[in-house]
Amino acid sequence: PLPKPFTVPLPTPMVAKPSRTDGHSDYYDLTQRAADLEILPGLRTRIWGYDGQFPGPTIEARSGRRAVVQVSNGLDAPTVTHLHGGRTPPESDGYPTDLVQPNTRRGYEFPLDQRAATLWYHDHRMDYTGPQVWRGLAGFFLVRDAEEEALPLPTGERDIPLMICDRSFAEDGSMPYPGSSDRPGAREAFMGGVLGDVILVNGAPWPELRVERARYRFRLLNGSNARVYELSLSPGGTIVRIGSDGGLLEAPRAAQRIRLAPAERADVIIDFSAYRIGDRVELGNLADEGPQGKVMRFAVDRDARDDSSIPKVLSQIERLDPAKAKVTRDFEFAGGSMHGGTGWLINGKPFDPRRMDARPRLGDTEIWRFTSDVTHPVHLHLAHFQVLSVNGERPAGPPEWKDTVELRDAQLVEVITRFTGYRGRYVMHCHNLEHEDMAMMANFEVV
Ligand code: C2O
Ligand code: CU
Repeated sequence: PLPKPFTVPLPTPMVAKPSRTDGHSDYYDLTQRAADLEILPGLRTRIWGYDGQFPGPTIEARSGRRAVVQVSNGLDAPTVTHLHGGRTPPESDGYPTDLVQPNTRRGYEFPLDQRAATLWYHDHRMDYTGPQVWRGLAGFFLVRDAEEEALPLPTGERDIPLMICDRSFAEDGSMPYPGSSDRPGAREAFMGGVLGDVILVNGAPWPELRVERARYRFRLLNGSNARVYELSLSPGGTIVRIGSDGGLLEAPRAAQRIRLAPAERADVIIDFSAYRIGDRVELGNLADEGPQGKVMRFAVDRDARDDSSIPKVLSQIERLDPAKAKVTRDFEFAGGSMHGGTGWLINGKPFDPRRMDARPRLGDTEIWRFTSDVTHPVHLHLAHFQVLSVNGERPAGPPEWKDTVELRDAQLVEVITRFTGYRGRYVMHCHNLEHEDMAMMANFEVV
């Protein structure tokens, strides 16, 4: 039986403490290990977590200060850690074959030469990202900066990351990966990706959060392997979007619903002073009905003083100019046959670490055109981008910085990006983790 919604309090992932800091760097130590957690009331679930936690500890970092994260692998399988949304030199970007073997460790260096944004870190082992993230290897990585801190947005207890993901459980509380982790071929039964029937927020099933009648900032992350959410409040209410994958928008945008494909983030403000004490406000998922149509609940608890506000102008975003693009490249995301079976391919080819698929030049602006057969959330490492058009139509409103964009069925999405930061080899892939594991990944090298 599924647990009863809204009975478990919302946990907040603990914040990682640096083991030391110096003039320009903060050092963290994380150990990947198995742990038994109480996720479903009264049952024990074996997870794999950074420091044995799921979600892993939140790293609160600062733009312009280097974070050095030493990851020790205490599991019995190789791992790779990637900072999703990080502008990271290639040797620390968690290339899918840069394995950290059991009982060894590796330091990842993140210069964080980038604006404030809600990032996250997760496993990225080639062919096994789906099962390893499913078991719990993911956590938040928040980058803060002075521009954002100068704004009167909610902070402290009212700035809360929410990792939304679905899992399914066996009767004994265990959380076996449905797609079978040992034989990647067996995963072909899960061509659409692996879904769970329990919705977790910060690792708790359909939790409840008691809130004050005040504004809260929530950093929404779709941490699911394959599920897409369409979040909305019931019995009604406005969600104000202030940030995207790559940080603040230019101006707040009020929405009735927020669609999030795997790996996408939305920073939002919900103002609970619009409700009365005793009200229960559900965050639901319009993309589904029944239990998966529910996400969590807010219980409006008490009055409180609130000095926050949502400024009309949040930031300035440079609009990348298509006329400056030096190169246009096409990438087709579609199923096809590989090694005699079926797989998910880019331009008809399965991922191969030895093949280079694109060589953009450092500093160049390029347009990348993505087409799809079915839904694929496409993610680029290193290079944040702006969406230029979807099926030929320019998106409404000013540009925003994205690192993941959902291609829906049979779409053409054009994005524009500038390759700055570092030379070297990176990947681009579908962030449906089963599609990624079934080879929907390509290489690019900034030269
Ligand atoms: Cu969130 Cu290449 O990954
Ligand atoms: Cu896909």
